[in-house]
Amino acid sequence: MTQAILQLSEIEKAFPGVKALDCASLNVYSGRVMALLGENGAGKSTLMKVLTGIHAPDAGTIRYQGEHVAFKGPRDSQHAGISIIHQELNLIPELTIAENIFLGREITGAFGKIQWTKMYQEADKLLKRLNVKHSSKTLLGDLSLGEQQMVEIAKALSFESKVIIMDEPTDALTDTETESLFKVINELRDQGCGIVYISHRLKEIFEICDDITVLRDGKFIGECLVSDTDEDGLIEMMVGRKLEEQYPRIEVKHGEICLEVLGLTGSGVHDVSFTLNKGEILGVSGLMGAGRTELMKVIFGALPSERGVINLDNKTINPVSPQDGLANGIAYISEDRKGDGLVLGLSVKENMSLCALDKLSKGGRIQHGDEVTAVDDFIKLFNIKTPTREQIIGNLSGGNQQKVAIAKGLMTKPKVLILDEPTRGVDVGAKKEIYQLINKFKAEGMSIILVSSEMPEVLGMSDRIMVMHEGRVSGMFAAQDADQEKLLACAVGKQINEEAA
Ligand SMILES: Nc1ncnc2c1ncn2[C@@H]1O[C@H](COP(=O)(O)OP(=O)(O)OP(=O)(O)O)[C@@H](O)[C@H]1O
Ligand SMILES: [Mg+2]
Repeated sequence: MTQAILQLSEIEKAFPGVKALDCASLNVYSGRVMALLGENGAGKSTLMKVLTGIHAPDAGTIRYQGEHVAFKGPRDSQHAGISIIHQELNLIPELTIAENIFLGREITGAFGKIQWTKMYQEADKLLKRLNVKHSSKTLLGDLSLGEQQMVEIAKALSFESKVIIMDEPTDALTDTETESLFKVINELRDQGCGIVYISHRLKEIFEICDDITVLRDGKFIGECLVSDTDEDGLIEMMVGRKLEEQYPRIEVKHGEICLEVLGLTGSGVHDVSFTLNKGEILGVSGLMGAGRTELMKVIFGALPSERGVINLDNKTINPVSPQDGLANGIAYISEDRKGDGLVLGLSVKENMSLCALDKLSKGGRIQHGDEVTAVDDFIKLFNIKTPTREQIIGNLSGGNQQKVAIAKGLMTKPKVLILDEPTRGVDVGAKKEIYQLINKFKAEGMSIILVSSEMPEVLGMSDRIMVMHEGRVSGMFAAQDADQEKLLACAVGKQINEEAA
């Protein structure tokens, strides 16, 4: 193989209570896409932060274009031709797309005057390349999560980089957006750019990557060609053992109806009706933008409804705020964990108990002993990788943050638990742990709604599956009658009438 343009060798990095990197190595080759794989907390993001100078390594060397380097920060590494698209978005919703792309390095003319026309033109060109159908004058806050991610990618493209690092870039992207991104990755590869691609979606690895590096517990495990391995082999390298059955669906005898939704309309949702039993998992499928998240937020009280009825345990409820939803026994775990899920500056403990303080109080006083026990129980149950419950949540790896978000919902002891894309950014091993936990609560009689864009997940976990299209229900199946084709047909708006066929 050709000489690596970038070589990280035997990098070590410890944080208080955590050895994040323990002899981690990575090679990046020009004109090739290197997948960087490993479980949640394996050290992938940390390694990239050491490379770009956000963290100083405790030991190890970095060679770039044949020379030893130690970048002082992202600006420094960027200047040298290494850009990074971070796992968590770093954009400002109040600014336009173009302002975000060129933030801190606005295009200026004589006397330092900002050349707005030129800046918007350049930004529009980048958006076009990525197939984003917005003007660069649009406010970032008006974009969907996926579109914001595309802006982050456009920003990285705006630097003429020799190495581009993508830390879970497709996390929030629709299939079409992912396709556009892959087209650009192929172009960049052809131009000789070296790319590091971090993702938990193994299918994508086989589609877009040339080489693979695996980290486990901060250690370099191996480098190989994509063509020399398969999915099972990769999983074994990542988790150090074989994984059996990925979707452990269990049969639970359904109880009576817990949630009944009748003709719910408003906030982009049109005339939706369905029921949910105790001990049942209802999967909700559909393309991005189908109104699934909106429907869940209306039921939870985070978005207003215009018409319709929500009955919970035979009692009509009318939640007008998330607090109201929680008080009624509905918990909603958002797909956007940074935006409205977690408070990144607070500790694991505070985040988990934030919504459950009522339940943890007696006579208006928080029972701190109970709080601590409950939090520690969840850390154990969920196998959350954190040195202590006091760790600031922003310091946890992406997948472990997601586990805290789910625990936070469960702490409120809800009757109905709504999970919106619960395994986004979660590794294969932890995914299974989350599925097992969902099953545990199902077995205890909790009613669960599982919104997911991953069809195998919906098909594998649900008892019934509801498909949405443009804010309406376009299909309802018993799990055993559903398959990917049928779900997809409904998702694009084809009504399936099985009787007539
Ligand atoms: N600033 C920090 N302070 C303390 N601990 C940290 C910090 N950054 C990362 N860690 C810890 O280092 C370990 C590696 O985290 P890292 O984010 O690199 O994992 P990852 O492989 O990117 O995981 P994921 O797939 O979940 O994104 C984790 O245990 C994490 O909690
Ligand atoms: Mg990460």
